[in-house]
Amino acid sequence: MPDKILKKIGVLTSGGDSPGMNAAIRAVVRACAYYKTQCIGIHRGFEGLIHNETCELGPRSVRHIINKGGTFLKTARSEKFKTAEGRKIAAGAVVDNQIDGLIIIGGDGSFRGAKDFYEEFGIPFIGVPGTIDNDIFGTDFTIGYDTALNTAMEAIDRIRDSATSHNRVFFIEVMGRDAGFIALGSGIASGAQEILIPERKDSLDDLFDSLKRSEQAGKNSSIIVVSEGEELGNVYELANATKEKFPEYDIRVSVLGYIQRGGHPSCMDRILASRLGVAAVEAILDHKTNIMVGLKSNRIVQTPIEEAVKKHNEIDIELLKISKILVI
Ligand code: F6P
Repeated sequence: MPDKILKKIGVLTSGGDSPGMNAAIRAVVRACAYYKTQCIGIHRGFEGLIHNETCELGPRSVRHIINKGGTFLKTARSEKFKTAEGRKIAAGAVVDNQIDGLIIIGGDGSFRGAKDFYEEFGIPFIGVPGTIDNDIFGTDFTIGYDTALNTAMEAIDRIRDSATSHNRVFFIEVMGRDAGFIALGSGIASGAQEILIPERKDSLDDLFDSLKRSEQAGKNSSIIVVSEGEELGNVYELANATKEKFPEYDIRVSVLGYIQRGGHPSCMDRILASRLGVAAVEAILDHKTNIMVGLKSNRIVQTPIEEAVKKHNEIDIELLKISKILVI
């Protein structure tokens, strides 16, 4: 029996927004048009699906958005979709709109929801990794990571101007609830004295030794980049402990926060989003389901969603050594 032809694809963004999500939606919509398949946009992720917030999307609906941050479809972290009842209502909306398959742009939480949805109602879906955290298994880079990294680096550069002018020690928190990718990348790129990430067991003694070495090497200021998920303590706790140890230090704390999620996507993110959006449409039209499309060694790859949600993108701990060598 020939496979059912997919006539209508739904697209949504879910979880935390990331720069490049608009470029991914654009790629999905235009690839659908290219392959003569209807495309339905779903507002506010799974929450919007539960409330049947849909609209038809054609190639012109996505003009001039490749360069825009955020997601014009909007996004949400839906608590209702985590319940069987919520998913049942959402499945009804899929049927009512005659949607044959979904493209989910988001992080691992969104993929977990999509996986349950597929197992319960057989609704085919393809995941597209979109999060600034870069913590998803099955892709070297997630959409939004490169932009966030550059935003964090530029912010740290600016803070360094102030740190050197005042001879201060700065503790700077960057995003990454469970992962240190943004901290490690922005820390190396901005020449941080120390980079504290959850993937490595850090100690206050090592931190204090590093600050002492910095002083002995003749440095008048230091930048310590701390990942939001660091287990040793948050930036304020670390700053207080350091002040206790070195009362003579002039210490400041800066939390970069949500500026890392916004802004125009970088060229890398626009290209990544364009490639993954097209790959997702091609995969679903090829009757693939329950997979995530990603980029590994600059090639499009497909990863079973079970694996993508179970494993984590591994950080290259060797990079910490590079950082240590370079701050001598
Ligand atoms: O997008 C991922 C992330 O930026 C995490 O690093 C952070 O902990 C989280 O989102 C916070 O997002 P929200 O406040 O939207 O839940």
